[in-house]
Amino acid sequence: MPIVHFIIKDGSQVSIQAPVGLSLLEIAHQNNIDLEGACEGSLACSTCHVVVDQEWYDKLKAPVEEEEDMLDLAFGLTHTSRLGCQIIMTEELDGLKVKLPAATRNIMVGKK
Ligand code: FES
Repeated sequence: MPIVHFIIKDGSQVSIQAPVGLSLLEIAHQNNIDLEGACEGSLACSTCHVVVDQEWYDKLKAPVEEEEDMLDLAFGLTHTSRLGCQIIMTEELDGLKVKLPAATRNIMVGKK
């Protein structure tokens, strides 16, 4: 099974087995990684923001427009930022490394 390395907020690395077909958000939740995901993967928040290791960023499928719009709202956006719920694990992503941002902006768009 592929392995994903999460750099968590205290800077330490947590390496976990990542079943193919699950999103990074689901994998994080199954392993008690502190990735929020307020809208549960429906592209209506940016709380599942992760910063992808540069080496891996180009291997991911390009983000859809809705993801880019949400990322624009993410706190601490970087040029390798993605939404964790949109990264789906594949065998090719074995060794993927992502970092959790220090903070997320906890708003859901369209809800007040
Ligand atoms: S969980 Fe809301 S966009 Fe990913």
